Amino acid sequence: MTRILAPLLAVRLLWQGRTRFFRALTVFIRIGMSYRKARRNHATPAHADFPDDRHTLHRRNADRLSHLFQDNGGTWIKAGQFLSARPDLLPMEYIDALQPLQNQVRPIPFASVDAVLCAAWGEQWKHRFLQFDETPVAAASNAQVYKAQLTDQRWVAVKILNPDIRALYAQDMLLYRILARLIGLFIHQVDFVAAVNVFLTTLERELDFIQEARNIADFQKLKHIAGIRSLTLIPEHSNAAVITTEWIEGQPLLEFLKNAERKTQIDTLALLQNSYVQQVIRFGKFQGDPHPGNYLIDSDHNLVIVDFGHMGVLSERERLNYVKIILAVIDGNVRAFKESLTDGGFTDLADDFFSEKLLQLLQSVASKPVEDIEFQEVERLLREILHCIRQRRARVPAHYLVTGRVFITLAGLFKLFNVTPEQIDIRKVLLS
Ligand SMILES: Nc1ncnc2c1ncn2[C@@H]1O[C@H](COP(=O)(O)OP(=O)(O)O)[C@@H](O)[C@H]1O
Ligand SMILES: [Mg+2]
Repeated sequence: MTRILAPLLAVRLLWQGRTRFFRALTVFIRIGMSYRKARRNHATPAHADFPDDRHTLHRRNADRLSHLFQDNGGTWIKAGQFLSARPDLLPMEYIDALQPLQNQVRPIPFASVDAVLCAAWGEQWKHRFLQFDETPVAAASNAQVYKAQLTDQRWVAVKILNPDIRALYAQDMLLYRILARLIGLFIHQVDFVAAVNVFLTTLERELDFIQEARNIADFQKLKHIAGIRSLTLIPEHSNAAVITTEWIEGQPLLEFLKNAERKTQIDTLALLQNSYVQQVIRFGKFQGDPHPGNYLIDSDHNLVIVDFGHMGVLSERERLNYVKIILAVIDGNVRAFKESLTDGGFTDLADDFFSEKLLQLLQSVASKPVEDIEFQEVERLLREILHCIRQRRARVPAHYLVTGRVFITLAGLFKLFNVTPEQIDIRKVLLS
């Protein structure tokens, strides 16, 4: 019976999602054709300047892709954000174009939110609150956040799962799988089927509010460094579609840093860095979504992390691997660095995996005291590592993708405020 039903269900889902499917297909065909044409032109001497054209072409195609994700909305915005965190798969032009997607979400009407709250707590849900501001303080693709006051006077943030994203999830899942297979027939450089599988696992985790609530509670139990304030979950007002936490009266990190004195900027960024180092190498458990909107600064200058949709969890072996990597980089020991990558799960690191250029860059960075290292050098180094990964089609172990994203984003913040990262004191972090 299921043998007959499954294909029928698939056809029905595909039919329901046909607009998004054909829109996506058209964009992918146009992108594919443009590269094909460029390659053909490149073969003729008149277009010997293809490398420069390639940047323009990547940029144009990245814009096309970004518009597609915006037009399709819902989980597609998430897909764009996911791809923007995969510089191991896509050229930098795509990463830059897809990153702003996070802030371009249209809020959903309160009537839909009301329906979710009615389903969760019944028609009388408003009795739980003295006040509930129906204008969201934030709208993301998967959820909206509201400010409210409980009957016991406490101010809270109420995060509500976007009902549309759940409804379209089954359709989108199928569309992504089919598209990945179709694209895979023409593009062999990137394993889109594997990427889609990782994406769908991540998405499912993010839509699981029970898990997110658990993450908030777990994170609060850890003994953080001074200056990190954890978020308090209010479990009696949280469920599979709603997460309620204490309201944090604070400024978003970027706004705070823009108006802060130099010393406060340096101290705050160092606090953020040291907290992540502690989370990764001491706890083996870290907040895995380093979007700057996820950090608030309260009136005592404490840093509060508010979003726990992603929590990276490392095995003991993986956690120790980061200690080894940091020690190798501090020592400037290229061999130990390479060994620790293999240790960390890079199974297909060929002998010639590190290009000459990469070795030179590594040695040059490692030979300097940390305060003399310039961002451009670190950036060139990271780019070259990613280039080698893409070129050799090495499969990056999943935990590196998450920590990589965290540390690349943090490096971006340091760069924005022209602050040099602190030298990491491994002993202090491990023994504190
Ligand atoms: N407890 C809170 N107190 C104050 N503001 C909050 C709180 N939780 C979330 N916010 C605000 O809502 C925004 C979105 O919340 P977040 O949990 O990051 O949702 P999303 O998973 O949709 O990104 C945050 O960037 C922050 O500005
Ligand atoms: Mg967030």
